[in-house]
Amino acid sequence: MSSRPVIQLRGVSKSFGAVAALTDVDLEVSAGEVLALVGDNGAGKSTLVKTLAGVHAPDSGSIEFLGEEVSIPGPNAALNLGIATVFQDLALCDNLDVVSNLFLGSEIRGSRLNEVEMEVRSWELLRQLSAKIPSVRIPIASLSGGQRQTVAIARSLLRDPKLIILDEPTAALGVEQTAEVLNLVERLRENGLAVIMISHNMSDVRAVADRVSVLRLGRNNGTFTVADVSQEDIVAAITGATDNAASRRVAAVSTKAASATTPPAGTSSTTDEQE
Ligand SMILES: Nc1ncnc2c1ncn2[C@@H]1O[C@H](COP(=O)(O)OP(=O)(O)OP(=O)(O)O)[C@@H](O)[C@H]1O
Ligand SMILES: [Mg+2]
Repeated sequence: MSSRPVIQLRGVSKSFGAVAALTDVDLEVSAGEVLALVGDNGAGKSTLVKTLAGVHAPDSGSIEFLGEEVSIPGPNAALNLGIATVFQDLALCDNLDVVSNLFLGSEIRGSRLNEVEMEVRSWELLRQLSAKIPSVRIPIASLSGGQRQTVAIARSLLRDPKLIILDEPTAALGVEQTAEVLNLVERLRENGLAVIMISHNMSDVRAVADRVSVLRLGRNNGTFTVADVSQEDIVAAITGATDNAASRRVAAVSTKAASATTPPAGTSSTTDEQE
């Protein structure tokens, strides 16, 4: 892992009317690093991603890209900087084949569309990702969920981004397809990209992320090195620990395991030393 920050957010806030979606959020990701972004529903994950994708302008705070303060006034500005986002719906055209989807809107043109060149480039891209796509001339509709995710990621790599943001890339995927997509995330890291992966799945986070950043009610609620943090601590940060029944249960169980004589106390300090 290199330590050069590709993106650095400081004190980013964003409100929608009376709703403070983000308050004073800091975030940093380096080249060759996978940062998992986690948090409960409504925690502000998508809003954060959309400020980086040029969909929402932050109300305050600063964004540095490769050490320079930038503003990201629109989706094209994000792409031009080198920020690629794969949204959860993937935005693929089911009836078109893989090549057409990869180059949709950015077709290679000579006197006419250069189909051969696009097909060659498609194979190159997919090979770079070690992707298992049987043919680039079959319609998206006949691909598996994991293969579709692969195509969407490959498409986002066309403009040679420095940062790639994946919104729930394994949601709704089976075990094998999830493994395939996680392998792909590792390829992205090997290729030196900075990766932000939104996920609800702790085993995915543990499998590929270097660090995990927790948002709670629109605020930072801890950033951890994955190798050093227990799942319980991540869950506690997501839920706010003691005001949540599930994490109180986790805390009680681990407290009992540590010392059978200590009853599960109702105080807030019981989750600090787990595992
Ligand atoms: N365009 C919008 N207009 C008004 N409120 C919004 C808008 N987008 C998000 N919000 C509000 O901002 C807060 C954060 O929402 P956001 O979608 O960022 O959460 P999230 O962490 O992505 O949640 P989820 O896991 O459910 O996708 C929520 O209270 C949401 O209702
Ligand atoms: Mg969301």
